[in-house]
Amino acid sequence: MTLRKIIVAFLLLGSVFGLAYGAGDLTTKFSNRGSISNTRHNLTQRQVAGGPSGAMMDNYRNDYQEICVYCHTPHGANTTTNLPLWNRTMKVTTYTTYNQLGTQTLQGEVSQPGNNSLACLSCHDGQTAVDSIINMPGSGRYLKSQETTQNDSFLNTWVNPRGQNASVHLRLTQGECLACHSTGAGFLGAGATDFTVAAIGTDLRNDHPVGVTFPSKNGPGTDFNAPSGSQGAARFFDTNNSGSMDSGDIRLYVTNGKVQVECASCHDPHGVPSAGRDSDFNPTFLRVSNAGSKLCMTCHAK
Ligand code: HEC
Ligand code: HEC
Ligand code: HEC
Ligand code: HEC
Ligand code: HEC
Repeated sequence: MTLRKIIVAFLLLGSVFGLAYGAGDLTTKFSNRGSISNTRHNLTQRQVAGGPSGAMMDNYRNDYQEICVYCHTPHGANTTTNLPLWNRTMKVTTYTTYNQLGTQTLQGEVSQPGNNSLACLSCHDGQTAVDSIINMPGSGRYLKSQETTQNDSFLNTWVNPRGQNASVHLRLTQGECLACHSTGAGFLGAGATDFTVAAIGTDLRNDHPVGVTFPSKNGPGTDFNAPSGSQGAARFFDTNNSGSMDSGDIRLYVTNGKVQVECASCHDPHGVPSAGRDSDFNPTFLRVSNAGSKLCMTCHAK
């Protein structure tokens, strides 16, 4: 996908939908409450009660008219990965990990990211198109090889009943989604939020370590708090004393027998209400608000 093609496509869209190339509002148009449908993880980009212009993105990702389907499917899920009914293409990638910085204070072992990080990285590392799924809605729109390899001709068979069919399947990276979603994108990105910071890439040295083992020496007298709950193999900090691992509980996942921090330890990709059912979600999909560094201090005794 060249920048020129994007520009041409953008102009086409602009003429079809009569867009104004004015300065835009860089804050989100989603309400961030109620459900994942009202967040940026609704990749249809369409909401019942207004929101961002889904048509703007129709040329660049399939609008499946469903929300969960970009990540989950009830049937035909990806069996190459241990994730709940996972519908995404999981490209095998080697990441540059945090420990390659060589920090002298790091005690835990760092491995390649575990599944609960790879889930996020399947979009956020910029290697795979955000709409690259195995089982598209409707019967017979399934391709087994999509489990590990993105096949654009398969994705191109999707017909968008409420807009333009996508002719390219962009990834969350420079020159693709970021051709509009970054500062300096000029009129091309007019009104588009800058996503540079969310395009994490494959170099994880500047990110909080993931795939890092939680110190087995924890609790009073150590630098780490002790997770009080366990569910299956996972461990969690039962902040609300419910006895179950709820979306607002910071957690540790087990990969290859090791209790580790992953992206979903701190983030819930579905959004977590900040104070009761109908309240705003915690910012940036965090399980716990980080006001006063509460999130950090759930694990770190500092
Ligand atoms: C041609 C430029 C262009 C491209 C390419 C593009 N977008 Fe957008 N996007 C926009 C503009 C402009 C808006 C704001 C318009 C609106 O919300 O009405 C927007 C809005 C969004 C929003 C909603 C922002 C918010 O919170 O209000 C998301 C999420 C988004 N785009 C994701 C993507 C993803 C993912 C890709 C790549 C698959 C992509 N976009 C590609 C121009 C683009
Ligand atoms: C952007 C990707 C994404 C979308 C969209 C998404 N999920 Fe998930 N979901 C995940 C990931 C990643 C996990 C595993 C991480 C974890 O343990 O929370 C997960 C876990 C789950 C789980 C099991 C763990 C739990 O939190 O209960 C359920 C159930 C679930 N999702 C349901 C849904 C439903 C229903 C929808 C649509 C309304 C949906 N998800 C949309 C990414 C997504
Ligand atoms: C889910 C538990 C958890 C949460 C929440 C958490 N951390 Fe960590 N953090 C860890 C673990 C485990 C390590 C690896 C420690 C080790 O092996 O020395 C780590 C490592 C670090 C390191 C690197 C230490 C080094 O020696 O290089 C820093 C700095 C850090 N965390 C800061 C933070 C901050 C700031 C926050 C909040 C934004 C936070 N952490 C939230 C568990 C957590
Ligand atoms: C299906 C693709 C996809 C998956 C899977 C996915 N994301 Fe996203 N995520 C996006 C897109 C697209 C955006 C909007 C553009 C942006 O801000 O990067 C986004 C935005 C975000 C944001 C910024 C929210 C904001 O309000 O600015 C966070 C935080 C985030 N994702 C975390 C995660 C985590 C953690 C996971 C895994 C548990 C995950 N994402 C899985 C596509 C995905
Ligand atoms: C130890 C907790 C922790 C872990 C692990 C973690 N994050 Fe975050 N993440 C945060 C916090 C806290 C913020 C909010 C930072 C801020 O407001 O500046 C954040 C912000 C983000 C954002 C929004 C961009 C930004 O910097 O504001 C994205 C996207 C994101 N995280 C994705 C991920 C992905 C993908 C992973 C796994 C590779 C991950 N996170 C692992 C705590 C974590």
